[in-house]
Amino acid sequence: MTLSSHLSDSLISTLPGASYTDPALFAREQEHIFEAMWVCAVRAGDLDRPGAYRTVDVGRESVLITRARDRSVRAFFNVCRHRGARLCAEEAGEVRRAFQCPYHAWTYDLTGKLLAAPNLTRMPDVGRTEYGLTGVATREWLGYVWVCVAEEPPPFEEVTQDVVARLGDTESIEHYGIDHLALGKRIRYDVRANWKLIVENFMECYHCATIHPELTDVLPEFADGYAAQYYVGHGAAFGDGVKGFTVDGSEGLDRIPGISQERDRRYYAITVRPQVFLNLVPDHVILHRLYPVAVDRTVVECDWLYLPYVVESGRDISRSVELFDRVNRQDFEACERCQPAMSSRMYARGGVLVPSEHHIGEFHGWIQQRLGKREVGRSVSPGAPSGG
Ligand code: FES
Ligand SMILES: [Fe+2]
Repeated sequence: MTLSSHLSDSLISTLPGASYTDPALFAREQEHIFEAMWVCAVRAGDLDRPGAYRTVDVGRESVLITRARDRSVRAFFNVCRHRGARLCAEEAGEVRRAFQCPYHAWTYDLTGKLLAAPNLTRMPDVGRTEYGLTGVATREWLGYVWVCVAEEPPPFEEVTQDVVARLGDTESIEHYGIDHLALGKRIRYDVRANWKLIVENFMECYHCATIHPELTDVLPEFADGYAAQYYVGHGAAFGDGVKGFTVDGSEGLDRIPGISQERDRRYYAITVRPQVFLNLVPDHVILHRLYPVAVDRTVVECDWLYLPYVVESGRDISRSVELFDRVNRQDFEACERCQPAMSSRMYARGGVLVPSEHHIGEFHGWIQQRLGKREVGRSVSPGAPSGG
C-alpha cells in the first residue's frame, strides 16, 4: 500500500481508507490487538455480589465475568465445554451458585469447575476441573476488571505505560482514587464508525474549536487546537470565570480529596491503548470503553464516576454529565461523518495529518506494528497526549 510521496513538510499521511472498511483487516486487528492485549471489561462494582455476572466481547470472543463466593473476580470463555453452546446469552445477570448450560445442562460453579451434568456419575473418568470452564486472565485496576484472552498475557505494564507516558508516572492517577469512586451515570453510544476513527479523534484537539463550543468555553486553551501538543504531565486549565467542569461552567461537585491544589481546576485526558479513554477533572473521572463490533461500528460505554457520597446523596450531577455527553455526541457525529468516505475512491490512499495531529502517526505506526506491517508516515515521538 503506497501512500502519497509528495507531502508538504507540515503534513504526514494517515492510514489508507481500506484500514477503516476492510473486514479482513478488522479481523486481524481483533486477533492481534483485542485478543492479544489487556482490555478493560467491566466496572468491578457492577459485580457487587457472588453470582453477579457480565458478558463482554473481547475481539471475536465472548467472555463471562463473575464474582466467586470468596469474592474474587473470575473470567471464562463463555463457551460450554460440552458442545460449545454459549453459556450466558445475556449481557448481565445473576445466578445463585452455578451457571447451567441451557443445551444439555452441564453445570459449572462460580470458579468454573464442572459441578454436575446428566449421567456424570456414569463417567467417573471425566475430570471436574479438566472439563470446567476455560479461564481468562484478569486484573483489577482503577476499579475495573481488565481481561486478556491471550494464551500468554503480556505484562500488565502494557496498560499502565500509556498513563505514565501522559502523566509522567502512575501515582498521579492514584490521587483520583478511581477504584473508590461510584458510578454516577453510564451512557452507551452505538457509533457507526471504525474504532480507529474514534481513537484518532480523541487523540487530537484540532477539531475542538469547530465542534466543541461548550468544552472550549470551559477549557479556553483548547480553542486554538494545539492542546494535543502539551508536554507530559500538563493538564488544560479551566477558564478564569469557570467554576466547574460543567456544561455551563457552573459549580461542579465536591472535589476528590486526593487532588492537590496544582491539579485542581485542570483537565487531563489519556488514551490507554487499545480501548480506553480517561478524563480526569477535580470532582469526577470519565472513563470510556470501546467495543469494536464491526469494521464500521463501535459501541462506546462511558462512565461518569464521583465520590460515593455525592452519588448516594442524589446531588444533581446533570450539568456535569451533560458537558461530556455533548462532547461525546459531537465527537461521534464527526467520526460517523468520516466513516462513509473511508470507502471513497478519492480516499483510497488516505488523508493527511497537520502538525498538531502528527502524534496520531505514532498510533498508526503502532497499529501497523501490531499487525506485523512496516510503519507508515514519518516517525514522531511516542507518549502521545490527548485532546478532547
Ligand atoms: S453444549 Fe452445553 S451442555 Fe451441551
Ligand atoms: Fe472531541
